[in-house]
Amino acid sequence: MRRAGKQNTADNVNNFNSQPLYLRFIQGVNHMFNIILFGPPGSGKGTQSEKLISKYGLKHLSTGDLLRSEITSQTPLGLEARNFMDRGQLVPDEVVIGMISSALENNPKANGFLFDGFPRTEAQSEALDKLLKLKQTEIAVVLALQVTEEELIERLLNRGLTSGRSDDNNAEVVKARIVEYHKKTSAVADYYRSFDKVVEVSGEGTVDEIFDSLCNEIDKRKS
Ligand code: AP5
Ligand code: MG
Repeated sequence: MRRAGKQNTADNVNNFNSQPLYLRFIQGVNHMFNIILFGPPGSGKGTQSEKLISKYGLKHLSTGDLLRSEITSQTPLGLEARNFMDRGQLVPDEVVIGMISSALENNPKANGFLFDGFPRTEAQSEALDKLLKLKQTEIAVVLALQVTEEELIERLLNRGLTSGRSDDNNAEVVKARIVEYHKKTSAVADYYRSFDKVVEVSGEGTVDEIFDSLCNEIDKRKS
């Protein structure tokens, strides 16, 4: 991993972007910095992702957003996915792994990726590691947002009043999403814990306080 003294990370990203393409190509694979922003439904992954990608120049890959865009376009994939999403269940692994594989292919020049809502099962984690290995890179850190269940439910039902998201406006579906998280997704943290890559960060407090904590953890690892 490269060391650049006290220069801040945003400068590092900008310097890298201003280098000639051939230099970026030679150095590229080693400079990618990939993060998983992990947490239960409503923990603030989307909110924090927007701020993090802007600060660190990363490409945001949210499987939830990709699936919702397929639904809006009424593609066969979107129509199939909707059946699962409306019930608060996970979409089958092969569907989301295929979407992420295409997204990685379509962004060959990215400085790094911020994965939001992916991986969500152990099979997805293993698939992601293999896809990144093909690009000669890996996950640097899994930032796991910690929020109480009471707060998650309150946030999601509140958002359901205005978001138009069919999986937010019904308490039963919101609870089903949280059950699905405990049943299948919490195993993702255990998987990355075995590689010593998980850092738990409080997801309660103001958006800016949480953002500062996340940046602090990233800056410790990104040089
Ligand atoms: P996805 O879109 O990923 O949704 P989610 O993870 O269930 O949860 P959200 O995106 O709703 O929450 P978030 O953590 O991003 O929080 P946010 O910042 O929005 O997935 C939807 C569905 O798609 C899944 O159920 C599944 O069916 C399918 N799917 C997606 N990925 C999949 C995969 N990999 N495999 C299989 N299926 C998949 O914040 C939530 C609310 O809280 C907002 O209103 C926000 O303003 C508010 N808020 C944020 N921060 C704070 C704060 N600090 N204080 C108070 N309020 C806050
Ligand atoms: Mg989200």
